[in-house]
Amino acid sequence: MKTILQISDTHIVAPGGRVAGRLDTADALDRLVIRIGAIRHQVGGLDAVLVSGDLSDDGSARSYDHFKKLIAPLGVPLHVIPGNHDAHAPMRAAFADQIPGAGPINWDHRIGEVCLIGLDTLVEGQKHGTLTRETLAFLRAALNRADGLPVLLALHHPPFPCGIRFMDDIGLTNKQDFADAVRSYAGELRIVCGHIHAMMIQTIAGHVAISAPSPNSTFAYDRRPDAPVGFHTQEDGCLLHRWDGGFQSIRIGPDDGDGPFPFQTS
Ligand SMILES: [Fe+2]
Repeated sequence: MKTILQISDTHIVAPGGRVAGRLDTADALDRLVIRIGAIRHQVGGLDAVLVSGDLSDDGSARSYDHFKKLIAPLGVPLHVIPGNHDAHAPMRAAFADQIPGAGPINWDHRIGEVCLIGLDTLVEGQKHGTLTRETLAFLRAALNRADGLPVLLALHHPPFPCGIRFMDDIGLTNKQDFADAVRSYAGELRIVCGHIHAMMIQTIAGHVAISAPSPNSTFAYDRRPDAPVGFHTQEDGCLLHRWDGGFQSIRIGPDDGDGPFPFQTS
């Protein structure tokens, strides 16, 4: 049994800053980390933390330092992939001990019987995402190495259209290449992503794909072509992925309210 926590789209900036002059993303992450610490004994422990892109809002070295300080109390191995707000060089410098020294930030790790694969979709300076030929080749090789074992496969940009126009406009440009690469994998494969600050579940080439919420903001599910462009201040937590002979994915909200209260009062 293995448990991997997925936190996405933390959008951290240098200490004291706010995103879009409004969101205190550091405070939101800090509170989520405290919440995870408080429920850790209930969920059976954590084996790894996956951060699925947009760790930083501005790609600055100071933002990555700040991120690392905020996430450190979790105290479990951290695995990070870039999102469109990240920048390769400062991210590589901040996580030099765990990501490749050159090329796309792709990696695969064994966590017990689970193969955790991370893919780089960042096109430096752009908002949309693309899996380069090199990254697609890495994916095929990593799936070969996984050889039928359970796979948790992470990329920042969802490999599916989400229906929110302004996010689909900056989505993954080569979804079909991704679908083709995962279609024939013989084992259990769960695809996880971020970017759209909302939890959605979709089937891709026969596999379940789930987008994670963001700890600090939400994009409304508004399919109208003229839907307003922007974020809501609703904080939406993170996901827990558990392998125990099958995958189970659980949303962990930003707070748990009061309780538990007994069902009957008399
Ligand atoms: Fe993003």
